[in-house]
Amino acid sequence: MELYLDTANIAEVERLARIFPLQGVTTNPSIVAANGESIWDVLPRLQNAVGKEGRLFAQVMSRSADGMVAEAQKLRECVPGLVVKIPVTFEGLAAIKQLTALGIPTLGTAVYSAAQGLLAALAGAEYVAPYVNRVDAQGGDGIRMVQELQALLELHAPDSKVLAASFKTPRQALDCLLAGCESITLPLDVAQQFLAAPAVDSAVVKFEEDWQKAFGRLSL
Ligand code: E4P
Repeated sequence: MELYLDTANIAEVERLARIFPLQGVTTNPSIVAANGESIWDVLPRLQNAVGKEGRLFAQVMSRSADGMVAEAQKLRECVPGLVVKIPVTFEGLAAIKQLTALGIPTLGTAVYSAAQGLLAALAGAEYVAPYVNRVDAQGGDGIRMVQELQALLELHAPDSKVLAASFKTPRQALDCLLAGCESITLPLDVAQQFLAAPAVDSAVVKFEEDWQKAFGRLSL
């Protein structure tokens, strides 16, 4: 499977790339805007932080297909291996088709239904990103959407992968992986919640106490 961090925080990517088995980093316009720096400065530094094998994702801003294609090409000039995120609107779908024909890898984003995600995959998107928590927050069932999308891609678009996104809890992410998703992207807080159970630290402290009592030291 592929694990990504959903962030443009370079210091945190550098720190967590040492710890987590990461394949790369995803961003979106809100994430880059919150960082405050120019996208053209941030993207090469993020690529550097994940290493040359790491995969970086960044999104276009234009609303027209031709504008999206032009921005995608500019993003790829900035970071050659970058996967271009395209919102799956009517124009976005046309852009995914054009970019696929040009050999530029895309991720269909802002996916709120399995039907929408399937269309992006059929248009040639390498990845499709369903927004799990945003669907839940609207009173929908984000996990069910992902289950349906995963099944549809396996049946009808096997060259595309679900990259499940928009999480508020580790449970949501695990449910997507159990549904068969090959890839997920986690915001920093959710990634850290994977290891944040207080019982973990307590267990390690108890091992240390027992060892110290018996051998008078904390090393083997
Ligand atoms: C990924 O493609 C999305 O940009 C991202 O995961 C959205 O997450 P949010 O709903 O927490 O903003």
